Amino acid sequence: MDRRNFIKTGAAGTVGLTLAGAMTHLPIYGATVKGANDKIVLALIGCGGRGLGCIINCCKINSNVVIKTVCDVNRSKLSNAAAHVEKYLGYKPVLAEDMRTVFDDRDVDAVWIATPEHWHCLAGIWACQAGKDVYVEKNLSVNIRESRKLAEAAAKYDRIVQVGLQNRSASQGFSAREYIQSGKLGKIVAVNTYFMLGEGKFTEAPEAPVPAWLDWDKWLGPAPYRPFSPSIVSESGRGGWQQYWAYSGGKLDDEASHTLDFTRMVLGDPQHPKSVFAWGANNAYGSNSEVPETQFVAWDFGDYLLTAEGGTSFNYMYKAPQEIRNDATKFPNWRNYSARVDIYGTEGLMYLGRHGGGWQVIGADNKIVAEDGAIFPDNEHQKNFIECIRSRKRPNGFIEECHRSATLVNIGNIACRVGNKQLYFDGKTELFTNSKEANKLAKGTYRKGYELPEKV
Ligand SMILES: NC(=O)c1ccc[n+]([C@@H]2O[C@H](COP(=O)([O-])OP(=O)(O)OC[C@H]3O[C@@H](n4cnc5c(N)ncnc54)[C@H](O)[C@@H]3O)[C@@H](O)[C@H]2O)c1
Repeated sequence: MDRRNFIKTGAAGTVGLTLAGAMTHLPIYGATVKGANDKIVLALIGCGGRGLGCIINCCKINSNVVIKTVCDVNRSKLSNAAAHVEKYLGYKPVLAEDMRTVFDDRDVDAVWIATPEHWHCLAGIWACQAGKDVYVEKNLSVNIRESRKLAEAAAKYDRIVQVGLQNRSASQGFSAREYIQSGKLGKIVAVNTYFMLGEGKFTEAPEAPVPAWLDWDKWLGPAPYRPFSPSIVSESGRGGWQQYWAYSGGKLDDEASHTLDFTRMVLGDPQHPKSVFAWGANNAYGSNSEVPETQFVAWDFGDYLLTAEGGTSFNYMYKAPQEIRNDATKFPNWRNYSARVDIYGTEGLMYLGRHGGGWQVIGADNKIVAEDGAIFPDNEHQKNFIECIRSRKRPNGFIEECHRSATLVNIGNIACRVGNKQLYFDGKTELFTNSKEANKLAKGTYRKGYELPEKV
């Protein structure tokens, strides 16, 4: 059945009748408050390491939450996902190779979207239109317009959309925000974030026939057609899709999306910046990747400058080890910590960690004047999603704010892609005022059959 027709008939037959016949953007089904004993049925779209691990964990730490379907265009990962669900949860899920069959399934309350980034928003919009709640991984989008459209769809269809930026549920984020709002850090004058990793050279492998385990056309989905290369997709691992602008936004997207969103959160979620300057180059190893090996970005927020510094050639910098992530009493060695935020106030310098690690404030004479420890909040974020599906309250990873955070990533990358420039940004129209080329990238392009709807 056509998906849109199904939505119409589904609305007439379910909660619509009792809820409010007069509401024009009526939740289709599953939008009533659910009790703790009501079962919540999930489906996973994108069965890579991230999605599979999270959704199984989510079912373990929440009661009455089950996975009905696992969906992937990689048949090897699909059967691997089914085996994992059976092993860890004790039942066999339904297998699907086309996400549209998941949206058409009335049993499914919510979908967990953990595909590469170029699919996140379109899949999220389709899910909202079909009346599903959504957990969608970061980075939310590969351009500005598509996450704006997903935010519109979430509002229009009254859906719970939780973006997978776990630090939105981090206790140290709430306490850091309170500390800053209390004025104890003084006036904020500068904020530096880091995404420094040591990953080495990327070399694209030549084109190859599409392997039997992959539906390449559906993997590409909305992205422009190009021949398959084993550099992009791997049968069992992640592959190199994050090296391409069409599917991702490089390390700024993969790594800095977390620190930038966390920064916005603790600063009280500021509106869009006035301008962005970015510089990127393959200046370390001479990779032939589209995304740069080294990238520096500066966003002008008027009262302060926010920067992100990083790339792949910083092998003396480290993400937090597990003992820091899982122990609220331990703090990282800030100087070598590759996923940190430094917030400079007139009264102190706050170091904030994104992988647990908590925060510490350094005052005059190098003294620690305040601190709060924390563990990495994956569980909290997954619990918050399920609680919000039940209560219909706004989730911590609220789409509107996460769209603004994703916009920092997207405009930072666009400023590199148009030639390492400074671009002026109009926060109301979400377009640039000094570059037509940049505005094309802000809107993206979509393949026939996978168009981004103008009206969601
Ligand atoms: N929040 C976090 O801390 C965190 C951590 C790791 C990854 N992530 C994000 O999670 C997402 C997935 O990451 P990953 O490491 O699991 O990547 P991955 O490449 O291993 O998995 C993505 C899966 O999506 C599948 N897929 C692609 N197109 C599809 C389609 N049309 N329908 C169904 N499945 C499709 C792929 O075949 C693949 O199995 C990414 O967006 C990544 O940035 C978030």
